[in-house]
Amino acid sequence: MEVFKKINPLQDYLSNININKTIGFVPTMGALHEGHLSLIKKSQLESDLTVVSIFVNPTQFDKKEDLITYPKTQQKDIDLLKSIDCDIAFVPSIKDIYENKVKSHNFDFGGLEKVMEGSFRKDHFDGVGTVVKRLLEIVKPTNAYFGEKDFQQLQIIKKMVKIEKIHVNIIGCEIYRENDGLAMSSRNTRLNKKQREEAPLIYQTLLKVQKQFHNNSINDVKEMVKNTFKNNTVLDLEYFEIADIDTLTPTSLKNKNMKYRGFIAVFADTVRLIDNIALN
Ligand code: PAJ
Repeated sequence: MEVFKKINPLQDYLSNININKTIGFVPTMGALHEGHLSLIKKSQLESDLTVVSIFVNPTQFDKKEDLITYPKTQQKDIDLLKSIDCDIAFVPSIKDIYENKVKSHNFDFGGLEKVMEGSFRKDHFDGVGTVVKRLLEIVKPTNAYFGEKDFQQLQIIKKMVKIEKIHVNIIGCEIYRENDGLAMSSRNTRLNKKQREEAPLIYQTLLKVQKQFHNNSINDVKEMVKNTFKNNTVLDLEYFEIADIDTLTPTSLKNKNMKYRGFIAVFADTVRLIDNIALN
């Protein structure tokens, strides 16, 4: 595996690759787990060459503490990528990505950025859009892989490449879960024993939502979710919403021509966990 810390050598290397070869790209913030690996494996199956970036992007963290405590395990990540035969790891510095101004571009994602994660994490999606645009322009991949774990992020990236006219196939990948249903996340390593034991309640609740969605009103389903977490002393519900997959606008009325998902964000003390599920 080749490891590049700088943009120019990476681009030189990529420009010498046969023009007919397809490049798959998986952007990450490191602390790699099986969820990330599932994206990388999909890229390896579908693309001739796979590039994985590891970059903890400061502009997408709305809280300083979250950035500071975000797990950083770069050497372990690189070793893991080597062990699964990844072709290229790209580990740029903040200066390489942002030059002298660590600042986000202001995007208009047509409202997608204002709801759910966007309403609770100020400027988060401007930060995500800025870094992903920069990374796509550096790597120029054929395909770029993003997890449905961050479904709102996936839809925003699809919109961003349309607005910015970036030629790349954005490929969504299923949520990869622990055996007990908890969606894999770099943040899971910050859960203590008790929090880790309680955390599967998030997915169990989403499965209940999926069951109840067809025969109950959205308001009743939302009430059920609220009540589930009301009495839990370890997990605090931040939001639960049902939204159609195109506009992501939370709704209380069902339209049978639309596809819906349930979206949830929960705190275990300072650790924020998100998940979502397809409902129809
Ligand atoms: P990060 O949280 O490291 O995730 C990198 C990619 O892995 C994202 O596309 C995310 O959706 C996907 N992913 C994480 N956990 C997953 C799981 N359990 N199942 C499936 N996919 C999963 O998301 C980011 O980084 C950043 O915002 C980034 C896009 C790299 C921009 O900085």
